[in-house]
Amino acid sequence: MGETGSGKSTIVNLICRFYEPTEGQILIDGRDYRERSQLWLQSNLGYVLQSPHLFSGTIRDNIRYGKLDASMEEIEAAARLVNAHDFISKLEKGYDTQVGEGGGRMSTGQKQLISFARAIVADPKLFVFDEATSSVDTETEQVIQNAIQKVLKGRTSFIIAHRLSTIRAADRILVIVDGKVIEEGSHKDLLRKKGYYYRLYTNQFLEEEGARLLNK
Ligand SMILES: Nc1ncnc2c1ncn2[C@@H]1O[C@H](COP(=O)(O)OP(=O)(O)OP(=O)(O)O)[C@@H](O)[C@H]1O
Ligand SMILES: [Mg+2]
Repeated sequence: MGETGSGKSTIVNLICRFYEPTEGQILIDGRDYRERSQLWLQSNLGYVLQSPHLFSGTIRDNIRYGKLDASMEEIEAAARLVNAHDFISKLEKGYDTQVGEGGGRMSTGQKQLISFARAIVADPKLFVFDEATSSVDTETEQVIQNAIQKVLKGRTSFIIAHRLSTIRAADRILVIVDGKVIEEGSHKDLLRKKGYYYRLYTNQFLEEEGARLLNK
């Protein structure tokens, strides 16, 4: 977690090796990831980016890209797991819907759900999720949040999320300010520390409480 512009996406893009560190190292299981091939990383890591990219083609093609020999059952199972099946089924052509150039006919939230299913069909050991900041409606955000909780089991995941309820459940929370980790620990550890996380949590909690009272 961290404010906008603090460097969260930059860090996960480094993990995905879209670019490599100019200083320091990224170790996976104790080994510099540059000692291994790009293919190795690709077959072990799944990601959902903040501005997800889709290829022109159908939703099915886009999910299958995660595992080229995936059957229709596997594709649908992945879509169900990430709560994408519901919205896909409601489309006139379902899984055969064309997503348009670069996914232009889909909303950001829908694109995230499709790339989420694509990542999951490949069953990666490492998983990266960079939640879209804007243009995702509250309902889709909730759908994505619930899906994230379901796929965490059995993998190491890096989740960039905006809701403290998602962040709170993490084993380790890293607080990023100006590209650096300034606090790290579990939700309880960080509350006890009464630092940056504590202040943010208290503020957001008060805001949410306030909104709830106003809606009554
Ligand atoms: N390709 C780039 N070239 C130069 N600067 C960049 C580039 N991408 C991002 N930055 C800068 O690096 C900093 C960190 O950006 P980053 O996208 O990692 O933030 P973020 O924490 O993901 O923010 P948000 O919560 O809005 O997604 C910002 O100041 C941004 O302007
Ligand atoms: Mg970002």
